Amino acid sequence: MIGIDNLSKQNGHQIVFIEASAALQRSEKVGLVGANGTGKTTLFRLITGEEQPDEGQISLDRGVTIGYFSQDVGEMKGRSAIAEVMVGVGPVSEVAIELKALESAMADPARYDELESLVERYGEVQAKFEELDGYALESRARVVLAGLSFTDEMMEGDVGVLSGGWKMREALARILLIKPDAMSLDEPSNHLDL
Ligand SMILES: Nc1ncnc2c1ncn2[C@@H]1O[C@H](COP(=O)(O)OP(=O)(O)OP(=O)(O)O)[C@@H](O)[C@H]1O
Ligand SMILES: [Mg+2]
Repeated sequence: MIGIDNLSKQNGHQIVFIEASAALQRSEKVGLVGANGTGKTTLFRLITGEEQPDEGQISLDRGVTIGYFSQDVGEMKGRSAIAEVMVGVGPVSEVAIELKALESAMADPARYDELESLVERYGEVQAKFEELDGYALESRARVVLAGLSFTDEMMEGDVGVLSGGWKMREALARILLIKPDAMSLDEPSNHLDL
């Protein structure tokens, strides 16, 4: 499924790979072990195409999708955990966020004046959400998060307040939701306890 053929790569002055070859077949699970700075992340970035080899090549079978879990989880805040999981699947997440915002606006007594226009907008956004199969996706996202031990409160709450370990789980959930053919996980257990 993934072929590494005669790969050479230098990062600055550091030679990371010299004529390295390997192959990953469908359903294989491979662990990549090495000391800090030996090139694990570099290999992931080569596989996802974020970096190019100096020599040799990396090939993916036609149509293979890869879910990449980066060692740096990155910024996560300002969204509910459930919305954050759906970010990876594209425009439907934006629609989900607007839908949630409209729901709380409609329930807000201070915005009673706007209720009519809010309800109208809600109808439009809801139709869009249905069109993008958002309800099915959201329920799948909930199953994935529940499988990683998220409670309902955590799913609805701000992802920004979660600890590093929970953010890692969040990032894992994002990849699981996409159902890629291959998952490349760069130190996914960094902030996780047993
Ligand atoms: N953008 C860059 N420019 C120059 N050198 C780099 C760059 N990124 C990585 N390197 C160097 O390439 C080598 C491999 O780095 P890489 O991040 O792949 O290692 P790693 O095995 O993932 O390490 P760690 O276990 O610390 O995550 C290191 O010597 C690093 O300093
Ligand atoms: Mg690394």
